[in-house]
Amino acid sequence: MKSSITLDKYAPVGQIDERIYGSFIEHLGRAVYTGIYQPGHPSADENGFRQDVIDLINQLNVPIIRYPGGNFVSGFNWEDSIGPKDARPRRLDLAWQTSETNQFGLHEFMQWLDKVHAAPMMAVNLGTRGIDAARNLIEYTNFPKGSYYSDMRRKNGAEAPFNIKTWCLGNEMDGPWQIGHKDAVAYGKLADETAHAMRIVDDTIETVACGSSALTMPTFGSWESTVLDIAYDQVDYLSLHRYYGNQDNDTPNFLAQSLDLDDFISGVVAICDAIKARKHSKKTINLSLDEWNVWYHSNDHDAQDAKWQEHPHKLEDIYNFEDALLVGSMLITMLHHADRLKMACLAQLVNVIAPIMTDENGGAWAQSIFYPFMQVSTLGKGTVLTPIVKSETYGTKEFAAVPYVDGVAVLNDAGDTATVFAVNKSLDTPQEFTIAAGDFQFDQVTLSSQFAGYGLKETNEDGHMRLADNTSYYLADDGVHVTLAPASWNVFQIKVQ
Ligand code: AHR
Repeated sequence: MKSSITLDKYAPVGQIDERIYGSFIEHLGRAVYTGIYQPGHPSADENGFRQDVIDLINQLNVPIIRYPGGNFVSGFNWEDSIGPKDARPRRLDLAWQTSETNQFGLHEFMQWLDKVHAAPMMAVNLGTRGIDAARNLIEYTNFPKGSYYSDMRRKNGAEAPFNIKTWCLGNEMDGPWQIGHKDAVAYGKLADETAHAMRIVDDTIETVACGSSALTMPTFGSWESTVLDIAYDQVDYLSLHRYYGNQDNDTPNFLAQSLDLDDFISGVVAICDAIKARKHSKKTINLSLDEWNVWYHSNDHDAQDAKWQEHPHKLEDIYNFEDALLVGSMLITMLHHADRLKMACLAQLVNVIAPIMTDENGGAWAQSIFYPFMQVSTLGKGTVLTPIVKSETYGTKEFAAVPYVDGVAVLNDAGDTATVFAVNKSLDTPQEFTIAAGDFQFDQVTLSSQFAGYGLKETNEDGHMRLADNTSYYLADDGVHVTLAPASWNVFQIKVQ
């Protein structure tokens, strides 16, 4: 099969906001306890932070991390997680029906972020709580000194304010499963009033309002319109969440789900812009895809879990090779929307539907999905060029015309290097793939790598998976010609003028 991507020098989609390579740590399962925090573990530092995990996270180059939930935040009292550890209460977490010891809290999270070189995306509880708790929290985190909560922070060891810039106004408040679930009008008013109060304390913050927790929610569309109608002036970003699974073991259809993500993002952009037009507003609402991933492998196990355990094994999906291909396609789709998608969080980061897993009695390891994410977060910097991809298509039970090849090209800020990411979704046929130079001149291929040759259901517990060189390329006058292996993730870097 033949396919191509043409680099369009003069029609950029937009500058990449690197916060789209964010991730997520929730107090859920073993994300925190025995994940990032395990005092007494051989690799733990003086704070109990696992260095083996920090080292892997630093390879992922994650610039922003959402915390502390997720569904967890909708029943969370932030005050439980500060002050002397032996005085912190042990609570029932109603969202996941586990026991929360609060031994890792706000100060520990902020200290740990320094080690992984990331900024916080902090969520406030708009489920069981509201304006009062949120305004107190931001006084605690962002007010310099001389007030009740800012002085409490200083007494607890942080003289300087944390200056948290990005705030999520609750989590998935459209979902009936959410503790304190609300209808769109009630949520819109609460989000508006909460953000208003928080901005009185610190007017430099930016806020993310809850959009739909999935494209399939019955309230999708009307939820976004109503919330933005009410809270437009107080909202900077609208969230969207999306997880996919291959429950039916239909890989061609599974790999096609990036088209669903594309529709979801386009739909939310259209709704934001419709409200903008109706309000005659000069302000544009951008998007935060602050939960996305594959999630289904652990569902059966989790349905049988005993309640009220401390950090049980939950949502511990073991990812296989086909999951990595879809994650790669989702990243490409996100880059196609670089003009409006400004933040995103791979959900989650450690142990819970995560690229990084830990053994509480052993080491940490990278799942299959680690590799495409690492390559895009490290190399996908600069401006996305309009993707002109030519590919044959296939049909599935959900999608009529799925291109076999997904691709995107990014030009770095210096304008001298183009990076191309591509997935070949054909399970049995290689692609004779051309990266056409368009109005660029191609000087040299500096990277030609592939993640290929593994079984679709192959996993990486033993750490055998590797990115490999793809030596099949040659540089010609019209561009680079290369063979993409069946079922493959591919990255190329080219010196351009
Ligand atoms: O990421 C796991 C859960 O998925 C989050 O807690 C929730 O927001 C979503 O439903």
